Parts: sequence; structure tokens; C-alpha cells
Amino acid sequence: MLPNQDEILAVLENCSTEAELKEFFVQYLGKKWSVNGLFKQMKDLSPEQRKTAGQEIKMLHDTIQTAFFAKQDEIKKAYWDEKLKEEIVDISTPANTLPRGYANLQNLLRRNVENLFQWMWFHIEYGKDLVSIQENFEHVNIPANHPATEMHDTLYIKDETHPKSKVLRTHTSAHQVELIKKYWPSCKFIVPGKVYRNESMDASHDVVFWQVEWVVIGKWITMKHFKHTMEEVLKGILETDSIELRMRPAYFPFVEPGVEIDAKAEVGGKEKWLEILWAGMIHPVVLENAGLDPKEYSGFAFGLWMTRMVALRYGLGDIRLLTNGDLRFLHSFPEATTI
Ligand code: DAH
Repeated sequence: MLPNQDEILAVLENCSTEAELKEFFVQYLGKKWSVNGLFKQMKDLSPEQRKTAGQEIKMLHDTIQTAFFAKQDEIKKAYWDEKLKEEIVDISTPANTLPRGYANLQNLLRRNVENLFQWMWFHIEYGKDLVSIQENFEHVNIPANHPATEMHDTLYIKDETHPKSKVLRTHTSAHQVELIKKYWPSCKFIVPGKVYRNESMDASHDVVFWQVEWVVIGKWITMKHFKHTMEEVLKGILETDSIELRMRPAYFPFVEPGVEIDAKAEVGGKEKWLEILWAGMIHPVVLENAGLDPKEYSGFAFGLWMTRMVALRYGLGDIRLLTNGDLRFLHSFPEATTI
């Protein structure tokens, strides 16, 4: 005999909590009742009767199950309606706004420079801040007795093995040889990064400042390529043609010939020539250190004093503004919000 559908649905109708529903499920929809219970009873029926009884059981089961799910939804909804009445979320309350971040102008310019060089198919490398004495000096043909290696210029790091075990790189040229080897034999790469000098600080000097090194090596690379790249880069960075530049011969152990490029700018209220760029044709010894034959390959290297470029580009009279953490300063450059 089939259980009475209406009676079962009346029991369901009386359920008003999740716990009661659970109990109902076990009793009427769980394995025990719907499958084992009823189907077991069918074993005494004739095959003909079994067929119709099976269909009826299935229909009964489906009806109860559908009603059960509808009731479950109803109970859940009632629960949440009640809860939401207690916990009102007032969406008109003004939100707590997070303070807006700003990019440091130095980083902003670094990104511009990277874009510019990427556009000219240069690799970008960052190197590392702590390098060996070989990397910083010997690889780039700076002899041990050169003034640049003196304690008053260079910040050494000591460890148990040596008082001058490592050095905070004094220039991004420290990565030249390692990177030429990496991209050998013809290569184009830049190294933007911080460099460290034991300097006294003023409006245009800091112990930490940013440089970008760029190196091009190949067959038949000449001063002509050198000049063209320099013009493209300076135009791209400064977005102006009105800058006054001056080129002077200069000595660096890792280039031959070497030049120093100054730009006219206002610093601390006075017009001044500022060194912003150094460059030259890579010295044969450096090429040899990187495993290249200087008779076959040539190249040029530039070192850009990025921190001064930032000062020129944004008209800063004092580079210390970049690092003193005064938010009013960054707030006054709307482009610094384009993080
Ligand atoms: N490494 C030099 C410095 O920091 C700058 C420099 C000079 C880099 C000439 C170069 C170069 O690539 O060709 O003092």
C-alpha cells in the first residue's frame, strides 16, 4: 500500500526550520523509505502489478522531492529575510577612501627610458646593487690604484673573509662584461639602476643616485651610431629640443675615446652646466675581458646620470626633493599618479 501523498505533504508544510526539514528528508526521502522501504514491498507483487506500482512510487517520490526543494528554498529565504532585517547595510554611507599612491619621479622617468629603449629593441637588465671588486673595477679596466677605488669614493662591504669583500656598485658599468658575455657577440642592452658613492650631499649630489648604462656591440659600430642613439635618447627623455648641450673629451678607463656631456640647467637658483651623460667607444681591453676580439667587434657605452635627468626634465632645483618623502612634492606632479 502506498503511503498517502497528501499526509506526507502536510507534514512537509508544517516544517519551519532547517532541522525539521532534515528530519523530514530522512524519514520520507532518505534511502530507507523511498528506495529500500517501498521497493522492498513490491517483491510479493505480480510482474504486471510491479510495473504500475514502480511507476506510482517514482511519481510519489518525485512529487515529494519537488515539494521538499521548494520548501527548503522557502525556509532559507525566510531565514535570510529575517537576518537582513537585523543587519542593515546602508549603502549610502560614504566609503572610506584610500589615499592615492604616487610614483616617484625617478621611477616614472625610468619607465619612460625603458619604453624608449625597448622600442629600439634593447634588452633591459637590472644587475644587482652589491657587486664584486672585479665587476666594479677590474672588468672595466679600472686598475687597483685608480682614485675611483679609494675608500673616500667607494662604499665597501666587509665580511669575515675580507675588509673589502664586496662593493655597492659605484656605476652601472659594473655589469658591462657580464652582460656582453650573456648576449655575445652582438648585443644591445640597458642597465637602469641605483649606484652608490661616498659623496657629500648637496642640491645636485647624493650618496645614492640613478644611472642608466647602455651598450651596443657589433661589427662596424662607429661614433656615428653613437651620436645618433644619444640624440634619439635625449630627445625622447626630455621631450624638448631647447636643451643646451656641451660635449667635452673625457677620460674613462673603459672607453677610448671618451666624452662627457653637460646640459645647462638651473640649480639652486643659478644657471649651471651639469654633467648628465658620459660615453665612449668601448675600450679593447673591456671587449677582450668579455671574450671578444676587438679587431672584429666594436661598440659604444653610455652612462646616463638619471637623477640629474629627472631634475632637468621636471625643473627641480634640488635632487634631495626626490627622496625626502614630502608628499606635497609628489602631489604637485599629476603625471606621478599614472602608476
Ligand atoms: N661608469 C661611469 C661613471 O659612473 C660613467 C660612464 C662613462 C659610463 C663612460 C659609460 C661610459 O658607459 O662610456 O662614472
